[in-house]
Amino acid sequence: MNTVDNLKNQFKNIFNKGAERFFFAPGRINLIGEHTDYNGGHVFPCAITFGTYAVVSFNNSNKFSLYSMNFEKLGVIDVEIDNLEYRKEDNWTNYVKGMIKQLRSEGYTIDKGMDILFYGEIPNGAGLSSSASLELVSGVLLKGMFNLDVDVIDLVKAGQAVENNYIGVNSGIMDQFAIGMGKKDCAILLDCNTLKYSYAPVKLDDYNIIIMNTNKRRELADSKYNERRAECEEALRILKKELDINSLGELDAETFEKYKHLIKDETILKRAKHAVYENIRTIHALEELNKGNLEKFGKLINESHVSLKNDYEVTGKELDTLAETAWKQEGVLGARMTGAGFGGCAIAIVKKDATDKFIKNVGEVYLKEIGYNADFYIANIGDGAKEILF
Ligand code: GLA
Repeated sequence: MNTVDNLKNQFKNIFNKGAERFFFAPGRINLIGEHTDYNGGHVFPCAITFGTYAVVSFNNSNKFSLYSMNFEKLGVIDVEIDNLEYRKEDNWTNYVKGMIKQLRSEGYTIDKGMDILFYGEIPNGAGLSSSASLELVSGVLLKGMFNLDVDVIDLVKAGQAVENNYIGVNSGIMDQFAIGMGKKDCAILLDCNTLKYSYAPVKLDDYNIIIMNTNKRRELADSKYNERRAECEEALRILKKELDINSLGELDAETFEKYKHLIKDETILKRAKHAVYENIRTIHALEELNKGNLEKFGKLINESHVSLKNDYEVTGKELDTLAETAWKQEGVLGARMTGAGFGGCAIAIVKKDATDKFIKNVGEVYLKEIGYNADFYIANIGDGAKEILF
């Protein structure tokens, strides 16, 4: 049975009626440009083909009845249309509630209850943006069901607003953007300062992108994510004393080197160095990819990991073991952590005919060093959030 048929059956079992419409939002990986989005720099992510499904039907009431196949034990969680405040015990449904509340506060009419069943294929907490995927699948569902005149970009911004103001994570816009705007076989170069973007075909010839999951759960809200962001803001505050800038992403290498002496605290200096050079690397990586210089593209990916390890300090033993073991394997162009770090996933660009050996070798070393298994998946680049039509 395919996923959609299975979801239809499950919907019927839970809600005792047929489903009306189907929606999907992918997860994402970021090829390069990490921790640059909230610093006004560039990112280079893409949507992947696995993500979150939502199956829905109106229910002639004033409540949303929400069910996730990933949280069966929680059962159906009912939410009143006029009571959408964040409540910890509402668990995963807070992302859905947050989107409804956010869009309503922006003036969109969402005034009828619905039954919705969700199914997520993205391993939870793996750093492939299961939460942004849930936000965006809710966004396209609300747009579709209520005929909202809202652009995907506005759903993307609404998703970020939910994350920042409702969930309480100060994340940037990369995840929601990649998930909302993704395009098959393309990565998106996004300038997070202006939101100008362009699609770049990811032509990797004989190579696969392999996602390597540390299986070390990462909780963004509990992590040091907000702390890193505050450290970068502090660096910016100091540099602004002599420079007319609004973000670290505006700095070229020369200007940064000239003014970096203003930052006396060694930790803050390292954070700023990462933000500035990672942004430069990202623009450079797109140029190399466009020229077909895959070796150079891979080298920049490796440099990104080194900087995230030494200067930004967000990798940890699990991610380092994966990336550093990957570098030693045959047929590998590059490898790095992807997403926020502190666990979650890394990616590697690996020759297709070397993939099996790669997975075996890296898997063995990881198990030996860390004591439990890593998981490996081949990433295919897919489209952004959408309705599934038959
Ligand atoms: C998380 C955040 C993004 C971005 C990355 C790091 O995925 O949600 O906004 O900051 O971390 O690049």
